[in-house]
Amino acid sequence: MAGATGHQQWSSRWTFMLAAVGSAVGLGNIWKFPYEAGEGGGGAFVLVYLAFVFAIGLPCLIAELSLGRRGQLSPIGSMSKIAEEEGRSKLWSLLGWSGVLGGFIVLSFYSVVGGWVLYYIVEAFTGFEGYDAAKSGATFTAFITDPTKPIIAHAAFLFITLGIVARGVQGGLEKAVTFLMPALFVLLLGLMIYSGITADFGAAVNFLFSPDFSKLTGDKVLQALGLSFFSLSLALGSIMTYGSYLTKDINITRSAFTIATADSAVALMAGLAIFPIVFAYDLNPGQSVGLVFTTLPIAFGQMPSIVAILFFFLLTVAAVTSAISLLEPAVAYVEERTGIDRKKVAIIIGLAAFVLGTLSAWGQSGNMLGDVKLFGLDIMSVKDYLTNNIMMPLGGMFIAIFVGWFASRKNMMEELAMEDSTFKIWYFLVRFVCPVAIGAVFVSLII
Ligand code: PFF
Repeated sequence: MAGATGHQQWSSRWTFMLAAVGSAVGLGNIWKFPYEAGEGGGGAFVLVYLAFVFAIGLPCLIAELSLGRRGQLSPIGSMSKIAEEEGRSKLWSLLGWSGVLGGFIVLSFYSVVGGWVLYYIVEAFTGFEGYDAAKSGATFTAFITDPTKPIIAHAAFLFITLGIVARGVQGGLEKAVTFLMPALFVLLLGLMIYSGITADFGAAVNFLFSPDFSKLTGDKVLQALGLSFFSLSLALGSIMTYGSYLTKDINITRSAFTIATADSAVALMAGLAIFPIVFAYDLNPGQSVGLVFTTLPIAFGQMPSIVAILFFFLLTVAAVTSAISLLEPAVAYVEERTGIDRKKVAIIIGLAAFVLGTLSAWGQSGNMLGDVKLFGLDIMSVKDYLTNNIMMPLGGMFIAIFVGWFASRKNMMEELAMEDSTFKIWYFLVRFVCPVAIGAVFVSLII
């Protein structure tokens, strides 16, 4: 259904929550969080990560959602409209541009990794029997450096994503998340219980929850802040766009708190599903991307094949519900500016993401563009660096600065309708704590 501005709207708070949690829960939670937590001293990293999610991520999430709802347009439209209403420079619309472009760039490589996950469902059907470290590593490398297979998988993943986005907010996004999010939760719970019973749950709990502050270097603290931002989908247009589909009766603060809690809970559950297996089979927990694609298959080879199939299906679901939120801001913007039919816009932007993503896929070492390097990085790493280390922290910092210093206090109070004492805490966090903390990460990430 369309709102007063002709802009689409969520049909209920529940579907909005599913979509927002779907955006937040993704590859970042299921492989990145467990691996980074392991390297950063387990429980110590988890504690710091949770503190960042709630003290910095959550206030920014509230800020971004409220800007979206107030603007009722795409991030670019919303930011220029609000800046004008507040009597501020039109340049603030750059925040919207950075979100839409950043989201598009992330989509182009997120969907390459999404393609890998999709392909591994197929691999899981043939089974990982007899996989040892060498065989598992060789299979993964052979796949990602193949000139065609990762491209077909990437195209398939994008096709699913744009197929959902093309159908609009209620016909596409809502329908997909209403089915996919409960499925994701049940699968994750099932896998956690399965690995808890059959594998080494105690070792995993120990690994994730016993704080060892000696391993928590300054670098890891900053990494935890970066991860909390990525995991909550902040500053890439997704949250602002989802906020723009909100009706005025929905309580943003309460919703944001639930989103942050659900996102953290899924990260912890993912750790508790993966690490019991890693420890029971004596595998190396510190393998980054390899943890999912090369380490786990060694253990999967010794389990009923349905476990691996379900695991990669779960990862695909998590990745798809995040990818739709990365495509939506650009589609919303082009649709709003040109009035061209959403289906056509989704196909055009999907194709553009396919081309840009193909460059990243071919940029994997040994592949077609394997020797092309920018600043010593392959194409996928360049995009990751640009978005994760520059656009996200800068975007987050300026969102906090705009809301805390350039928008009127009264307007923010009206939009958020918080209790006085809660508003004061939130306002303090967005005015002072968020800009300083994010600024510190930004500086440390680029030097
Ligand atoms: N939050 C997603 C994850 O944890 O995998 C990734 C993501 C989606 C980041 C959407 C940013 C975004 F706008």
